[in-house]
Amino acid sequence: MRLAHLAGVLDLGHRVFDVSAMPYTSWSLTSVAAHLDTQPDACRVAEIGGRVAGFVLGSMSYDEREDWGYVEWIAVDPAHQGKGLARKLLDTSCAALFAAGATRVITDVEQTNSASAGLMRRSGFTDSVTVTLFVRHAPAGAHGAEPHRHGGRPADPAKARLHAAARPPRRV
Ligand SMILES: CC(C)(COP(=O)(O)OP(=O)(O)OC[C@H]1O[C@@H](n2cnc3c(N)ncnc32)[C@H](O)[C@@H]1OP(=O)(O)O)[C@@H](O)C(=O)NCCC(=O)NCCS
Repeated sequence: MRLAHLAGVLDLGHRVFDVSAMPYTSWSLTSVAAHLDTQPDACRVAEIGGRVAGFVLGSMSYDEREDWGYVEWIAVDPAHQGKGLARKLLDTSCAALFAAGATRVITDVEQTNSASAGLMRRSGFTDSVTVTLFVRHAPAGAHGAEPHRHGGRPADPAKARLHAAARPPRRV
């Protein structure tokens, strides 16, 4: 993947991920750029007719483990699905993560995403821990006193670096 692919990758993600729902709400230019910035070998695209037909974004940061690779995002344009593109992309990204020192590669799959689960099983991933997100909504009228999440510092080190770089210079 090269810088020139950023727009195509971002656009394809917006077409195939429901970014209004978990776990896809963090899909953003920042997320794509952070992956490309930190682990370019594990970020791959498939091009067909000069357009991005599929992509995978991997990194060497899963929680605090520096020896676990993480494939966070993978997608193939619906017009090109079912032709083995995702498998090739995933294999190449995993190979790069193993070459970078990963002792294992992790990925997480939303419960109803049978295409993604099938892809992972077919690619040698085995089911591990299942995490269910429980959500408690704020009571009516509770907003205002709490600090707003968007102003906070991202936990992901790569995102934190980008966040700091994007901040306007401090006035003296
Ligand atoms: C998941 C996705 C990337 C698969 O892409 P793809 O290029 O069609 O996948 P491939 O053709 O390489 O298929 C590889 C394997 O995945 C499985 N698979 C693919 N599509 C499937 C489907 N709709 N249902 C069940 N299994 C499926 C199959 O086991 C397949 O292997 P096989 O054909 O040899 O049996 C694609 O469906 C997609 O972009 N989905 C939307 C984005 C998404 O949900 N991404 C994952 C979360 S980040």
